[in-house]
Amino acid sequence: MVASQILNHLLFSSFMVMAIFMRSSMSKFSEQFPSTVSIKRMEKMTRFHFYFHDIHSGKTPTAVRIIARAQNGGAGNFGTTFMMDNPLTEEQEPESKLVGRAQGMYAFASLHDPGLLMVLNLAFVEGMYNGSSISILGRNPVLENVREMPVVGGSGLFRFARGCALAKTITYNPKTNDAVVEYNVSVVHF
Ligand SMILES: *[C@@H]1O[C@H](CO)[C@@H](O)[C@H](O)[C@H]1NC(C)=O
Ligand SMILES: *[C@@H]1O[C@H](CO)[C@@H](O)[C@H](O)[C@H]1NC(C)=O
Repeated sequence: MVASQILNHLLFSSFMVMAIFMRSSMSKFSEQFPSTVSIKRMEKMTRFHFYFHDIHSGKTPTAVRIIARAQNGGAGNFGTTFMMDNPLTEEQEPESKLVGRAQGMYAFASLHDPGLLMVLNLAFVEGMYNGSSISILGRNPVLENVREMPVVGGSGLFRFARGCALAKTITYNPKTNDAVVEYNVSVVHF
């Protein structure tokens, strides 16, 4: 190639690059990045251990029934739905340090056994996690010793989170329905 051809070639290819750059920067609605960019980001893993207090009794219940059992509710109390804003504490005792709240719903979604559909956000208030949240969506067969539920996302420090939550009932009062549940939550996030 003679010098002018090389120059033309360089000019033309930088023009192409500019054109592509301009085109992608003009569309504000979405942007795509080469996957290598995300591969270079460091993934972190965070594990949590806390106690969830499902309080139905007393002056300030934190879980309330919002939908009654269906007429054909069967053995599973099918249809019964609760809304909660349950405290999450560091230790089993309800007076121990508050680390966050479990805000969301749980509904009896099985006709045959007490199998709950859980839809909730863990809204943290403790230290660097204050303001960040983790979203859980899963099945919770409450009579089983340990239940596993998927972490489907998160916000703040837990952007792009995925992971799993393990739940185990520590105490349950059948008269009041009050329960304390131990949670181990593991999340992978950026
Ligand atoms: C968490 O953040 C909120 C809002 O910024 C603030 O009011 C609150 O005091 C913080 N809580 C803790 C425990 O740091
Ligand atoms: C949570 O993890 C601790 C420590 O590994 C363990 O003793 C406990 O049984 C676990 N609980 C659940 C519900 O997974």
